[in-house]
Amino acid sequence: MGGSTDQVHANGRSPAAPNSGDTKNLPLDTLINLDHGDPRMYESFWRKMGDECTFVIKGYESLSYFSNPKNPACWFLEPKLEDSIKALHGAVGNAVTDGYSIVVGTGSSQLLHAVLYAVTSPDQPNQTSVVAAAPYYSSYVEILNLVRSGLYKWDGDAHEFDKDEPYIELVTSPNNPSGVIRGPVVSRDGGILVHDLAYYWPQYTPITSSLEFDIMLFTASKCTGHAGSRIGWALVKDIEVAKKMTKFMEVSTIGVSKESQLRVAKILQVVADRCKRFGSPEGDNFFEFSKNLLTKRWEILRETVKKTQMFTLPKYPLQHCNYTGDVTQAHPAFAWIKYKDGMDDCEMLFKEHKILTRGGKKFGTDPGFVRVSMVSREEEFNLLIDRLSMIQGLNNVDGYAAEIE
Ligand SMILES: Cc1ncc(COP(=O)(O)O)c(C=O)c1O
Repeated sequence: MGGSTDQVHANGRSPAAPNSGDTKNLPLDTLINLDHGDPRMYESFWRKMGDECTFVIKGYESLSYFSNPKNPACWFLEPKLEDSIKALHGAVGNAVTDGYSIVVGTGSSQLLHAVLYAVTSPDQPNQTSVVAAAPYYSSYVEILNLVRSGLYKWDGDAHEFDKDEPYIELVTSPNNPSGVIRGPVVSRDGGILVHDLAYYWPQYTPITSSLEFDIMLFTASKCTGHAGSRIGWALVKDIEVAKKMTKFMEVSTIGVSKESQLRVAKILQVVADRCKRFGSPEGDNFFEFSKNLLTKRWEILRETVKKTQMFTLPKYPLQHCNYTGDVTQAHPAFAWIKYKDGMDDCEMLFKEHKILTRGGKKFGTDPGFVRVSMVSREEEFNLLIDRLSMIQGLNNVDGYAAEIE
């Protein structure tokens, strides 16, 4: 795999990303890979939970292709996963599930393919344009350009879309890379909206309402950090769209791994059962743990960035979170860092300091931005902070002279 998706790459470019084990002794000059949103920050919570999520599958179990032939929308959805998805959205209050069909996918990445197939038609005279407002999630471009479907095509920044034709707008909220809450920017007849809500969970952003959009995508990768299980789910209002999505998966992969579904079902249920009380003395509320950790990281990052006097970070509004009951700001999974005075290649600047990031260009915007993962392991986050402090030390050296305010 290449270096531009948010998943871990088997041949990752960083020698600093061993897949297991302790990193306390990372050599000081180790390259840290914060290009991907690999959610290993959550390992410490799950380690603390011990065997709570352990489950066993015997050799004779889960052989069948079928999980629930009676489910009219998705015959390969495990009933336990369906129940735990509903329980979790109910406990958090971030999305309505009543009246929705649930379609499970191999990550929400597969669901994106399925949605695009389901909402387009071979009878249309032209391929349907797919747009997203810049800065957009870089994988959208990569996925669409790789597939080269006859049904749809990537058509760039939604702000610039002015065709009088049907279109699909991908609305990522909170946005990857910038962390802001967004709505659609093209508003014309004939448009279909797909809401990618991968980060609409309380650790990242205040939950201000229970969403009821027509097509909503979620993923365990960002919700609980179980990216390796590759489970995403779509909440779909129109059962005919859900059935077409299911057809796509039936033909492409004949469903989704039962082992993965059952594992994620267990995890989501454990989170749902323990997340009802924010401030619980047991310390087993996943969202409380994650929100506290991300809040701490963001405080440290903001302080460090301020000291460098070279970069800026987005500001997020204070909002009431219906889930936690407090007034809080967003603490996104990525830091969207901008070089203050314009920069041809901020990604390169970070790379010279042994920090791999993803540059603004890939998100359809200015190369003076970089996106940096905030959900890495603690040791990598600490190295990021050390190195950012060193960039400050290199002001006016190496051609990166900045005017200090
Ligand atoms: C906005 C957004 N959508 C979708 C995905 C895909 O997630 P997955 O395929 O792991 O479910 C990601 C992963 O980084 C993402 O950031």
